[in-house]
Amino acid sequence: MSTETSITETRILLRHASDPNLRKIDTYKSYGGYATQEKAYADMELDSIVHELEESGLRGRGGAGFPMGKKVSFLPHGDQNKYLCCNADESEPGAFKDRELMQRNPHQLIEGIAISSLAGGIGHAFIFIRGEYDKQGDILDEAVAEAYAAGYLGKNILGSGHDLELVVHRGAGAYICGEETALLDALEGKRGNPRLKPPFPAVQGLYGGPTLINNVETLSNVPHVVANGAEWFKSFGTEQSPGTKVVSVSGCVRRPGNYEVELGVKTRDIIYGLAGGPLEGHEIKAFYPGGSSSPVLTPEGLDLPYSFEAMAEAGSMLGSGSIIVADDTVSIPHMALRTARFYHHESCGKCTPCREGTNWTVKMLERVVRGEATPMDLDIISSVQKNIMGHCLCVLGDSMAMPVSAMVNKFRPEFEEVIAGAALASLTGMPDDTGRESQFEGGGHDGEEPGDGGISPKVIERQRLAGRPVADGGEESTSGRATQDPTGRAREVSEH
Ligand SMILES: Cc1cc2nc3c(=O)[nH]c(=O)nc-3n(C[C@H](O)[C@H](O)[C@H](O)COP(=O)(O)O)c2cc1C
Ligand code: SF4
Repeated sequence: MSTETSITETRILLRHASDPNLRKIDTYKSYGGYATQEKAYADMELDSIVHELEESGLRGRGGAGFPMGKKVSFLPHGDQNKYLCCNADESEPGAFKDRELMQRNPHQLIEGIAISSLAGGIGHAFIFIRGEYDKQGDILDEAVAEAYAAGYLGKNILGSGHDLELVVHRGAGAYICGEETALLDALEGKRGNPRLKPPFPAVQGLYGGPTLINNVETLSNVPHVVANGAEWFKSFGTEQSPGTKVVSVSGCVRRPGNYEVELGVKTRDIIYGLAGGPLEGHEIKAFYPGGSSSPVLTPEGLDLPYSFEAMAEAGSMLGSGSIIVADDTVSIPHMALRTARFYHHESCGKCTPCREGTNWTVKMLERVVRGEATPMDLDIISSVQKNIMGHCLCVLGDSMAMPVSAMVNKFRPEFEEVIAGAALASLTGMPDDTGRESQFEGGGHDGEEPGDGGISPKVIERQRLAGRPVADGGEESTSGRATQDPTGRAREVSEH
């Protein structure tokens, strides 16, 4: 298979990201930051901002890809209290781009929030940040304080008569709080459980008021769209997926990290050209194109354009834009089990198909890898997934069912092989000689004590042997939690 690719990043959101002082307001302003907010608050018609956002076709970068401008236009006009919630919960395995955006350029996000709030007639905004993002929370706190001091937040912003209060709220570490309505409950101080929809948040959201909820990357795009116009924005990407995307690439690649590319570039170019492809002598076996909730694709998918529409046509999704690569050393049944365990652990338990379905799926996949299942059990696993999909209150249940289904359907012979191999090993008492199993059990489950960041010493040693930097929670690290990697190949993200 050819690995020849040539591609460069198209950096809009990460343009000045290599400047370590970018998080300071003076440096941000020296690159033209806050000029768009000044213009918008001084003399732009609110309708024209909404119009520009709608025309740009900017789609939500948090998972569903819903047009951002449309969401703003759904907010009712009038004097009632309206809210903006920035979703910075980013807890899906494979996703770590919001972390970098907040860590490197917090003012870009604050400016996006201020302009979006102006457009929506919103007076109170919140950034709901994942609790484990402690450092990024501190950076945001400092940036928000600077923005208040400089008059970009608070009362009578820049003498415009508009007020905006912005609060950084730290979550308590539950993946489900990234679901927009669970996020609202958590913000209100309740247990973070999804709400029934409708009513949608734009009509009845936080404290019962109309609420705009958008992802960090979506809001970070807003100053650029408003500064340069919809036509400029649409000159990047494809017709249905305009703009750039910060893609988090992890798993079995040489240079894991965040790469900002125009939507619609070839997926192969991102994985091989930017992230370096798999290690010498290895081939890609499968990849999740949009985080651990997206149905895995086989190598044929490498030639697809990386866009919302192409991924949907291929039966998968772009999601939050996180590519997780599994090479030929990865056991797909174990990867399915690791994925299912994550969703089972994170299910809030409110609805039966998800609560029971994730539990049953984990139990059945455990039987598969122990060699206690039969090929007929694979049909039962598939049928359990069918009964989850479309039958849950929120998308968490489907988020497990979609990738697990895809893995069982596309890699059935490997599941059958694992069942037979594990059964034979248990009969003969011979250990599994693939060395794969322990990687998927995570630190502590395979008899090893977890090391730094919960990664087992064996995995850390493997990373060292492979010549890769080891996850150490380093000062400038921009990776997601390495222990979440569903391939079991936890790796630190390279700076680039
Ligand atoms: C279980 C679950 C977890 C989610 N986690 C996140 C998250 O961490 N960040 C995020 O922006 N969206 C997340 N979403 C999607 C949000 O519900 C919502 O669609 C998104 O925040 C809207 O912003 P956008 O339109 O800018 O993408 C999650 C959805 C589900 C079902
Ligand atoms: S799908 Fe799962 S996480 Fe979502 S409401 Fe139902 S039980 Fe909770």
